Amino acid sequence: MSESILRRVSDRLPVRVIERTDGVTYLERYYLFSFWRWRAFLHRFVSSDPEGETHDHPWTSVSFILLDKYKETRWLGGEYVEYERKWINIVKGETFHHVDLYENDARIPGIQQEVPVWTLFIHGRRFKGWGFLKQFRVSSGPDNVGFYTYTPVSRGTFSDVGWWKRYGSCLRMIPRYWRRR
Ligand SMILES: [Fe+2]
Repeated sequence: MSESILRRVSDRLPVRVIERTDGVTYLERYYLFSFWRWRAFLHRFVSSDPEGETHDHPWTSVSFILLDKYKETRWLGGEYVEYERKWINIVKGETFHHVDLYENDARIPGIQQEVPVWTLFIHGRRFKGWGFLKQFRVSSGPDNVGFYTYTPVSRGTFSDVGWWKRYGSCLRMIPRYWRRR
């Protein structure tokens, strides 16, 4: 799908910009609709997850990749496995992963930039908390011993339940847009 179509659609939708814990802009989240316990958003990823950070999620989700592709690294109980995602990605709440955007220097020659990725993102009901998994190693004599720490995110940190309602109904916004033209 072309970026101009995605821009035209997303320009009419309620948006929330999400930052990483280090303050870097991470994701533009555009609300589409809710159906029973499912919610649908357009996502525009603009940054990779911070290096060395792996996280899980409060819900199970499915992403349909609409433009470009990304690299996903999953932590599968002791080993990291890399996948290239360019069509669909199903992520269970218990899955730990890390997302990296690809870099491209075509836009400004000589300067590497991360290539944004657009997805249609649908998630189910929240059934657990979520947080960050960090790996560290300790030297113990001749051996390196690996440890993991899990830091849960407290419920209020990133949540702003129903934030899109501040914009009014999407269905009302669209006719308003077309009347203006
Ligand atoms: Fe994630």
